[in-house]
Amino acid sequence: MTQAARPDASRPAAARKAVVPVAGLGTRFLPATKAVPKELLPVVDKPALQYIVEEAVRAGLSELLMVTGRGKEAIAEHFDRQPELEAALEKKGDAARLSAVRHSSQLAQMHFVRQGDPQGLGHAVLQAASFVGDETFAVLLGDDLIDDRDRLLERMLDVQVGRGGSVVALLEVPRSEISKYGCASVEATSEDDVWSLTDLVEKPSADVAPSNLAVIGRYVLSPTIFDALRETGPGAGGEIQLTDGIRALIRRGEPVHGVVFRGRRYDTGDRLDYLKAIVRLAVERDDIGPDFRTWLDGFVAGGA
Ligand code: UTP
Repeated sequence: MTQAARPDASRPAAARKAVVPVAGLGTRFLPATKAVPKELLPVVDKPALQYIVEEAVRAGLSELLMVTGRGKEAIAEHFDRQPELEAALEKKGDAARLSAVRHSSQLAQMHFVRQGDPQGLGHAVLQAASFVGDETFAVLLGDDLIDDRDRLLERMLDVQVGRGGSVVALLEVPRSEISKYGCASVEATSEDDVWSLTDLVEKPSADVAPSNLAVIGRYVLSPTIFDALRETGPGAGGEIQLTDGIRALIRRGEPVHGVVFRGRRYDTGDRLDYLKAIVRLAVERDDIGPDFRTWLDGFVAGGA
């Protein structure tokens, strides 16, 4: 190794583990999600969750833990080998679909833990404590899709390496919508897309919200979050909230930064956003995109 390539020991090592909570009940999507995990609902022809796993892998996170629960067994099946299906596709000479089926089982080194009862996102992240150990790690929510042309996670990992502590993803939302999110109270830094967090409030009403910066489903967290979560009691909705754990880190004086995301993001657990994700990604596809766009233009014009 040359002198120039030697890592700087005073800077934290980049995260290499990702935790993906997928144990939620998905009540906003009932009855579709009664037996099918919402994270496996297809966005065109790929489950929402696979886009998220691909994003983690692209960002260099090679070890991945899914926090699953009852009724979510199909998630492990999706990322496992399917020898009978593969043999059938091989026999038919369907190389493209064979490659697609194999791809999802070769994406990452994947681990699974069960949450037991879905007692909130903070509780889900706590189940990852022994997998994560004493390392900085990323959390990607299993229903929060970031367009793969917009690099958010990579930027967050860079900011964490440069500044230490923890990093959350922030989205500027209309004030009328802030009550659906965790909301950050912030101070400026030397970089225009990076804020230093001074507080975090879960789902505030518009008139008391400290900003219009909403926390969305990507986090790079210090392992100190586990102690903070263990000390955090149930918050909004009787659930152990991840935002309350992060707020405890801020109150202990640990640095927490926010990276503002200005790209395309879809909450696939929300029916309207889910439909937008499908339309947006479908019109841009090389195979079905041109025909779909022609139909859509006619539909919007009232002709279809
Ligand atoms: P959501 O709050 O969007 O999931 O959590 P939910 O509770 O399933 O949704 P609704 O409101 O009932 O429709 C974001 C992510 O965190 C996971 C979910 O599976 C989702 O991917 N989650 C949430 C857990 O793993 N455990 C929990 O206790 C809560």
